[in-house]
Amino acid sequence: MCTRLAILILMFKEQMVYQASGNGLNLTFTPEELLSNKIVPNTTSSGGRNWLELITGCFQGLPSECPVQLWDFSHGGSDIDAALLPPHRNTTVQMVDQVRLWRDYAADLLPRPEGKTLTTWWTGINDCTHISNNISITDNDAYLDADIEAYFRAVGTTARHGLRTHLFLTAPPVYRSPFAVKVRTGAEGYKKMLDSFNQKLTARMVKYARDNPSQLILSFDASSVFLDILDHPNHFGFNDTTTFCIECEDQEHRFWHTEEHPTEHVHRILAKAVEKYLRNPDFVY
Ligand SMILES: *[C@@H]1O[C@H](CO)[C@@H](O)[C@H](O)[C@H]1NC(C)=O
Ligand SMILES: *[C@@H]1O[C@H](CO)[C@@H](O)[C@H](O)[C@H]1NC(C)=O
Ligand SMILES: *[C@@H]1O[C@H](CO)[C@@H](O)[C@H](O)[C@H]1NC(C)=O
Ligand SMILES: *[C@@H]1O[C@H](CO)[C@@H](O)[C@H](O)[C@H]1NC(C)=O
Ligand SMILES: *[C@@H]1O[C@H](CO)[C@@H](O)[C@H](O)[C@H]1NC(C)=O
Repeated sequence: MCTRLAILILMFKEQMVYQASGNGLNLTFTPEELLSNKIVPNTTSSGGRNWLELITGCFQGLPSECPVQLWDFSHGGSDIDAALLPPHRNTTVQMVDQVRLWRDYAADLLPRPEGKTLTTWWTGINDCTHISNNISITDNDAYLDADIEAYFRAVGTTARHGLRTHLFLTAPPVYRSPFAVKVRTGAEGYKKMLDSFNQKLTARMVKYARDNPSQLILSFDASSVFLDILDHPNHFGFNDTTTFCIECEDQEHRFWHTEEHPTEHVHRILAKAVEKYLRNPDFVY
């Protein structure tokens, strides 16, 4: 199958596999920089490959030379919108800025054949963490609503520039990661926030699909895949779901690579599940 996917925006604190801007402070890049920028192998948050590299087979080198092209504009540590949450680091490019970069400097240069282009969106963890940790935010619900609106304004921007098939992934249950104890509200409060984010995301997706009947909206419950593994680790070949080890050579039996990022093994299971879903997708409408 020779489909070309222009895959855009995966979040989950992925490192910039494809370094579109290279420097968060200078949000521009030239066509030459864009088209010569290579995917650096094994530099994702899993320590190895991530789900999109596994699905596309685009592990390294120029995206344009991959059988299924992967154009990744995601950026580690980002939230959705700087107007709501300030960038965590001075190099962080928030999601709406990733979209703006794509629109201004990449959209007209990259392939996006109709019917052969899938745009993927996976975000929410950092927003839930930063809202949970922010004592000046008292109405979490209203904040999440505003956050999700900013999210879908960005989706609308990509649609106006030719991206018309969108896959949304639910935010995974990082409240079960070693990181959860560091969140101000504890694992339980963090779970509430993430569950609420996912409920609002799902409802907003349905509204977006109804408002935009000419676009294809796909929804994949990544959270369930994570929970299935965490609840039945042995079944999937894991024996450690509670600790993490960045330096360990043998990552196969571990769920967590860093305190909140899963190993490549988890990404492989996720990639298979997403591929299976895409073969027989259930559209949101
Ligand atoms: C930002 O990047 C562009 C394109 O690479 C370059 O022309 C410009 O000089 C840079 N600006 C700064 C302030 O570094
Ligand atoms: C990346 O990691 C995989 C295993 O996860 C390994 O097979 C591959 O050789 C590595 N690639 C590079 C270029 O290091
Ligand atoms: C960004 O942050 C790093 C470390 O936190 C610091 O060394 C650097 O000077 C900062 N850069 C700017 C432009 O503020
Ligand atoms: C906390 O939330 C307020 C809005 O209520 C925002 O202005 C501020 O930048 C946030 N701070 C952090 C560290 O996220
Ligand atoms: C998990 O399995 C690996 C590989 O067989 C082994 O080295 C490790 O000690 C086991 N860990 C636990 C917590 O049982």
